[in-house]
Amino acid sequence: MNIVKVANYESMSLKACEKLTSFLKTTDNPVLGLATGSTPEGLYRCLIEKQQQGEISFNNTTTFNLDEYVGLKGNDPNSYRYFMNDKLFDHIDIQLENTHIPNGETSDMNAECETFEKELKEKGPVDIQILGLGLNGHIGFNEPGTPFNSRTHVVELDESTRQANSRFFSSIDEVPKHAITMGIDTIMESKEIILLVSGENKAEAVKKLVQGEVTEEFPASILQKHSNVTIIADEAALSQI
Ligand code: GLP
Repeated sequence: MNIVKVANYESMSLKACEKLTSFLKTTDNPVLGLATGSTPEGLYRCLIEKQQQGEISFNNTTTFNLDEYVGLKGNDPNSYRYFMNDKLFDHIDIQLENTHIPNGETSDMNAECETFEKELKEKGPVDIQILGLGLNGHIGFNEPGTPFNSRTHVVELDESTRQANSRFFSSIDEVPKHAITMGIDTIMESKEIILLVSGENKAEAVKKLVQGEVTEEFPASILQKHSNVTIIADEAALSQI
């Protein structure tokens, strides 16, 4: 794994933005894997600027997002569809029909997982997958214990994940108990992975990811087995290494 150490959140976002910008400039029909959470927000702000300055275009870009809460409508401010539209898609020249996020409001979740996998197979593979890191080592919403060979599936969220994400909701009771997520095997099929991580609260998780045993109990540890992973991390996140 290639580790790029940067000073802070801002430089992490800029470094990731530079990498994606040069990739988008030199690729005809790029397929990006995108993530939600606080971590990639700075990257998305930078990409919006680059597009608005005419440096890059998303006109031929296809995107696949990692995950979505079950039970939230797309226009619910806490849904990941809303997040992506609000933080990125509404501000760039992407065709919305080329953006794929699991649909959390369908009544047949298994069919939705199959449809998502089918679209990935038809339009993928993902060229570059952006990942954040959960405090318990989750990637997407693959919680500890998820089999490494998992494909897109419905998960029951850990209490710790619901607690961590409750900061976006008015109370923990409103945080959904389930989500749809790309599986670990699905994520590992991306040609390249860029994991972003910032802040001291993630330092222990980063240490386990880089130096720990590869185990399903710590999902992100699987990245040690991928041939093209770059971790862009700030000094605080790397403070235990
Ligand atoms: C969420 C998302 C993940 C994200 C992680 C970290 O639960 N499902 O995709 O990477 O938690 O979030 P944050 O970047 O806000 O720390």
